[in-house]
Amino acid sequence: MTDGGDWRPVGRLEAFPDGRVTGIEVDGRRLAICREGDRLFAVVDQCPHRGAPFSELGHVRDGRLTCEWHYWQFDLASGTHCQVPSICVERWRVRVVGDAVEVDVSGPMPPG
Ligand code: FES
Repeated sequence: MTDGGDWRPVGRLEAFPDGRVTGIEVDGRRLAICREGDRLFAVVDQCPHRGAPFSELGHVRDGRLTCEWHYWQFDLASGTHCQVPSICVERWRVRVVGDAVEVDVSGPMPPG
């Protein structure tokens, strides 16, 4: 690839249901794939509040990831907490190639 990414396949698109948060393991990291319609986001699978796994206690709606333990919400486009923008979740690049979902394991995206 010419974008400098180190893309790894993590599953077929159908394995990531709409509105759900699906945990994956890639390159030794636990990430959460969040799907809303045609949009996919990859974040570290650990809420920055008290460490709950988003893949067990999260859902996606209106561009937001909600952790259902204490209802912190994060804007998926920026990764920032919806009320406290200084708090953010670590995001990773994700894309769909054909029907395969791939994550760039070269490093997390910059915050914001
Ligand atoms: S652990 Fe996620 S909101 Fe508290």
